Amino acid sequence: MRQNTCIFDSAGRSKCTVSTWTQWCLRSAAVLCVLLSRNAADDVCPSSCVCTRDSGTVTCPADGDETEIPTDIPEWTSALILKGRNISTLPRGAFSANGTELDMVTLSLSYNGIQVIEPYAFLGLPRLHLLDLSHNQLGSISDRAFHGLPELRSLYLNHSVLPSAAAQLSSALSAQSLRNLHRLELVGNRLTSIPLVRLDLYNLHSLVLINNSIKSIEGDNITHLYEQRRIRVYLSLNPFRCNCELGEFYYWLKNSSQCQDAGRVLCHEPEAKRGIPVENLRGEDVDCVNENLEAVSYVFLGIVLALIGVVFLMVLYLNRGGIKRWLNNLREACRDQMEVYHYRYEQDSDPRLANVAV
Ligand SMILES: *[C@@H]1O[C@H](CO)[C@@H](O)[C@H](O)[C@H]1NC(C)=O
Ligand SMILES: *[C@@H]1O[C@H](CO)[C@@H](O)[C@H](O)[C@H]1NC(C)=O
Ligand SMILES: *[C@@H]1O[C@H](CO)[C@@H](O)[C@H](O)[C@H]1NC(C)=O
Ligand SMILES: *[C@@H]1O[C@H](CO)[C@@H](O)[C@H](O)[C@H]1NC(C)=O
Ligand SMILES: *[C@@H]1O[C@H](CO)[C@@H](O)[C@H](O)[C@H]1NC(C)=O
Ligand SMILES: *[C@@H]1O[C@H](CO)[C@@H](O)[C@H](O)[C@H]1NC(C)=O
Repeated sequence: MRQNTCIFDSAGRSKCTVSTWTQWCLRSAAVLCVLLSRNAADDVCPSSCVCTRDSGTVTCPADGDETEIPTDIPEWTSALILKGRNISTLPRGAFSANGTELDMVTLSLSYNGIQVIEPYAFLGLPRLHLLDLSHNQLGSISDRAFHGLPELRSLYLNHSVLPSAAAQLSSALSAQSLRNLHRLELVGNRLTSIPLVRLDLYNLHSLVLINNSIKSIEGDNITHLYEQRRIRVYLSLNPFRCNCELGEFYYWLKNSSQCQDAGRVLCHEPEAKRGIPVENLRGEDVDCVNENLEAVSYVFLGIVLALIGVVFLMVLYLNRGGIKRWLNNLREACRDQMEVYHYRYEQDSDPRLANVAV
């Protein structure tokens, strides 16, 4: 039997001769592989996808104008990754073509131009742990979009929800089936408030609201956050309005330590406070009682000034006779004075008198 031999030439390159034995081995292995894959029909990787059987990963990258969700997803799939596919609508049972359940754990659907999620879109995925819908253009989300996901722990909706769908999102997230939700990421969606009607529905540990349009968090939201102490909230890159109505939020930020990026929660309004961390404000900056007192004191000052003015006018009015007389006297006096001056001037400017003086 010949051995595999390698010869190094003068330039350091190696030339190997593969033995016929090894060649035979490789060939039979290849044949075996083909046979095996023929035997197990559901091992076939969907066309235009790349499958890694060991890790159970099926990756289906963009393929021209592909708009279809692969229907022949293998049963062993634990992670399905679709990307750049221009899907536009996720219909009911989008991932369980024949009503069969899949044991999939991870489903990543970022960058697929998804605009509509229809009711029960994720039916047949009872073990799904992670759903990534980031970087889509969701304009319509059904109330029942997330029904049938009892094991879902992480839901990513970063840069995905159009402002018109914010209210729908809030209803869709109310689904009872999300009771195991642990982490909810809603980065970059121009949301103006926390899109959760209740917080006690879930087992939520992280709520990521970075880079939205939240100006303030008030009332019930704050109360509920205090109640759900395990929830960690991320709020940087929101345009907080640092007027006196921010009080509740300000104390929550300082007292509860539930906000993980509190140091980067900055004021956006008013201009004078822009860029200042909310937690660095002073108590009196967010104290409406103080602000009201200030307003009241200005009003008071105004009233006092007005009263003084009125009194002054009244005095003038009551004395109008005396004032008239006084004004007349003044005019007379002025006229007398002017006449005296005039006379003197005429005398001074008489050329004859001047000559006499010289
Ligand atoms: C996506 O598909 C729609 C039709 O379904 C088409 O109008 C649109 O141009 C496509 N977009 C891209 C980026 O391919
Ligand atoms: C799904 O149903 C279609 C017909 O409706 C059938 O051709 C196909 O083989 C089925 N696929 C599986 C995985 O059962
Ligand atoms: C947004 O979603 C992605 C998943 O696509 C996640 O990995 C990332 O950590 C999320 N957060 C931010 C701030 O991008
Ligand atoms: C915040 O989100 C907007 C809209 O999604 C995006 O254009 C912008 O780049 C984001 N800003 C940062 C600092 O991430
Ligand atoms: C938070 O505030 C918004 C808007 O005021 C409200 O719709 C929502 O129900 C509140 N959520 C919680 C959990 O308090
Ligand atoms: C938060 O702490 C401040 C003082 O540090 C206190 O005056 C305020 O009442 C506290 N607020 C709440 C809601 O616990």
